[in-house]
Amino acid sequence: MDNIKKKLKEMLTRETYAHSLSTCETALGLARRFGVSEKKVRLAALLHDCAKSMSYDELICNVEKYKIPVDRLELKTEALLHAPVGKKLASVLFGITDSQILNAIRYHTTAASAMSAIAKIIYVSDFIELGRDHKEAADARKAAEKDIDKAMLFILRKKIPYLVKKKVLIHPRSIRALNWFLGKEEKK
Ligand SMILES: [Fe+2]
Ligand SMILES: [Fe+2]
Repeated sequence: MDNIKKKLKEMLTRETYAHSLSTCETALGLARRFGVSEKKVRLAALLHDCAKSMSYDELICNVEKYKIPVDRLELKTEALLHAPVGKKLASVLFGITDSQILNAIRYHTTAASAMSAIAKIIYVSDFIELGRDHKEAADARKAAEKDIDKAMLFILRKKIPYLVKKKVLIHPRSIRALNWFLGKEEKK
């Protein structure tokens, strides 16, 4: 784990490295609470933003170099592109082969339908880690105390209108995720 942290520190800005460590702390708390593998959650949380400090050109270079499958919207949205590139780098630079860890990294920006427990923990922790000091994070923290699906729904309901307000494109995977978690809520 120390080797991973050392390499990660070299790849990230100070802020993103601190965010990754804090996301890891939060994610481990959720893993314990919900009985999910701490080992997998630790790796996914530490590595979720491993491509975050790259420039847009570097991200594109990696997409081309490794032939990373990305859709058109991801390709032109820098804020989304570090997730598929991060998944690939977790595999080639950090030797991660576990598909649950890799998919948690892949979907930590857009979310997705039918996410694994690990993927949900990473998505939620990314939003509520203690470095996030806005009111929404505090409210999502409360939701995550009891029910990770409720926390997912809460965050998607905050993030999507925020993107609408910002007048930026919204990935259809996020809308599908919102509908999926709404459907799940209705069945409860
Ligand atoms: Fe990220
Ligand atoms: Fe993050």
